[in-house]
Amino acid sequence: MNILKNFYVIEGLDGAGTSTQQHLLAERIERLSGRKVFCDKEPTDSDIGKLIRKGLSNNIMSFNHYDENHPMYNSVSYSVTLKTMAYLFAADRENHLNNPETGVASRCSSSIVLCDRYFHSSLAYQGNEAYELNKDFYHPEVLIFVDTPVDVCLSRIASRNGTREIYENKEKLENARRGYLEWIERLYPEGCGVKVIIVDGNKSVDEVCQDILDKLF
Ligand code: TYD
Repeated sequence: MNILKNFYVIEGLDGAGTSTQQHLLAERIERLSGRKVFCDKEPTDSDIGKLIRKGLSNNIMSFNHYDENHPMYNSVSYSVTLKTMAYLFAADRENHLNNPETGVASRCSSSIVLCDRYFHSSLAYQGNEAYELNKDFYHPEVLIFVDTPVDVCLSRIASRNGTREIYENKEKLENARRGYLEWIERLYPEGCGVKVIIVDGNKSVDEVCQDILDKLF
């Protein structure tokens, strides 16, 4: 197993609270270890990431004519297949990880990188088919899974403003949770070298963070 040292990943369902935890954790890890922690995320803000965002809101456009001024010019938005999304996430990830100037792999030589989502999201959300596309990526040194009940995630999603993305419903989140737990068990048996931390996300922000730190140090 190819493990990237200093690469920490935090995963969870939509609404699980991973973004909040990521920033709090980064601050506390820096304080406790004296090491620099860089916060990162997938999908990235690159053009590939922007296309992914369109896919997540069912808004990838198809044009029936290349020339905007053509009288027949028209465009429609349509949903893309699960596998298309899996390819897009994997393309975004490849550059995010291995780009020689900005990639995670080079950044990990000088600081801890704490990333909100990584290929475990693809396995959980795009399903088993995504394994082939992701099997050669580095594994993180630490994987944190914030396990928040689906109903709690859904009520947090409902209280946010804005339109729902394609995975933000009960059935998809239940599948994704199952996927996370099955893949974590399959990929990371005892002694594999990756530190897996699973915490109950149905507690206060501070308690969840403290539970993670207790298992980390
Ligand atoms: P995220 O940015 O964490 O959610 P939010 O929009 O609430 O900030 O993630 C966006 C969505 O992308 C989320 O539903 C999970 C999904 N996703 C995948 O399906 N596969 C992947 O490989 C990744 C990285 C994310």
